[in-house]
Amino acid sequence: MTAIPNPEPATFIIFGVTGDLSQRLLLPALYRLFSERAIPEGFAVVGVARKMLRNEGFRTFVRDAITRAYGGVDADAWQRFASRLYYAPGDFSGQGDHGPIALVVQQVEQQHRTGGNRVFYLATPPSTFEGILTTLHKMELVRPGRRNGAWNRVIIEKPFGQNEASSRQLNVLVDRVIGEENIFRIDHYLGKETVQNMLVLRFANTVFEPIWDRRYVDHVQITFVEEEGIGGRGRFYEEVGVVRDVVQNHMFQLLAITAMEPPAVFDAEGFRNEKAKVLRAIQPIRPEDAVRGQYGPGVIRGKPVPGYRQEEGISATSMTPTYAAMRLAIDNWRWAGVPFYLRAGKRLHKKDTEIVVVFRQPPLRLFKDFDTSGMDPNILVLNTTEEEKILLSFAARVPGHQQQIRSVALDFDYARFGPAEHPPYEHLLLDVLRGMRRFFPRRDEVELQWTIVDPLLEHWDASPPADFPNYPAGSQGPAAAEEFLIRDGRQWKTG
Ligand code: BG6
Repeated sequence: MTAIPNPEPATFIIFGVTGDLSQRLLLPALYRLFSERAIPEGFAVVGVARKMLRNEGFRTFVRDAITRAYGGVDADAWQRFASRLYYAPGDFSGQGDHGPIALVVQQVEQQHRTGGNRVFYLATPPSTFEGILTTLHKMELVRPGRRNGAWNRVIIEKPFGQNEASSRQLNVLVDRVIGEENIFRIDHYLGKETVQNMLVLRFANTVFEPIWDRRYVDHVQITFVEEEGIGGRGRFYEEVGVVRDVVQNHMFQLLAITAMEPPAVFDAEGFRNEKAKVLRAIQPIRPEDAVRGQYGPGVIRGKPVPGYRQEEGISATSMTPTYAAMRLAIDNWRWAGVPFYLRAGKRLHKKDTEIVVVFRQPPLRLFKDFDTSGMDPNILVLNTTEEEKILLSFAARVPGHQQQIRSVALDFDYARFGPAEHPPYEHLLLDVLRGMRRFFPRRDEVELQWTIVDPLLEHWDASPPADFPNYPAGSQGPAAAEEFLIRDGRQWKTG
């Protein structure tokens, strides 16, 4: 067995530390990793944002965020963690003063023996990435390679660019100022258990892989629906919309892992090469192969909720899609002729993210006198939502005198392994400290992902929808998304 590298000491410098992502996910993840001693003692956090805060105020802010996430803090662990939290006010929008960041980082490095290793986390809107990287470079806080043996790594949130051209431009900048070996493009879906388990399911078992192709698979569905709206992220969401928020990244990564060939070696390059090959084989989406939607007011869990255009920070005439469904074709040997249907949306009737592999139906001529109305083809469902599970359905004869066949399910729940150990951000932050790049998309993957959606997004921009909002909050999405599959003689499965 090859040993996994140990996480190394480092300072985490988080830009946008007062934002939603940082409060809900990053700070709680770092606290938990540190309190469980999964990361070394040589560790500190420098929070950066425009707000004027002192270290004390920042510590209270972080404590509140962690309390909201876990319902409280452990007194001893909090004490140790809090003494490693620092704040550096600064404006990285390009106009303001960058503040004392360089000084704070240097002081913190000496005090906490971080070995000079630095992780810069850009938890800010995508439009700020270039500006922040350029400034960090000018201030000589980042550079390609190492500085006196110490590394600097930069984590960038999705979406990486706004289209292929801007992602290339950002990649050129990344290459110049930090180098591909120091960039970690984070896609938290790659940190989910079910997603990391997909390769084990496919390649460590005998029964799935031989039927994982066009001969046995009728089609694949990938569903990403949520009850959540846009929360306080109006500005961000108006910049991105559903395709840039979750389809171009999370969903395409799920698709690539579902469709890829076994890598020769399961290291970062082997894994990413195979995903890139799938992405290269996906045909650009034609407008007639996609449906868009935006939610209007509705009811979720018995409570009235506003429509997208009534949300804070959103224009009353916004054309931003909050729902998309599409059919993709992978033009390669394994998948020729097998459609992959994707749908994603906000403010729907439930939270669910799942990959559904629908197998071909065998001829049922033996069972002409059976009632088969309750029977579906075999399906395999991989669910990545909180109760992560895997389910395989098959046909069974219903006991009794009537001749009836019905679909039943074998299911596996991750709870069988005990309580969930680490949410995705914990896995991935630990990987950054270990220098493990496997679960971070590479430059070519991100650019290829854009080439698939760019023609569709351009078409949508050029032809504003006349029917927005076209689905009420709390519903199953626009009617057109149902009809879209019915036209192909199929329907969405719900696991
Ligand atoms: C984020 C999107 O990347 O993923 C959000 O920006 C979305 O809009 C979230 O709500 C969903 O993540 P999860 O892990 O809750 O399924």
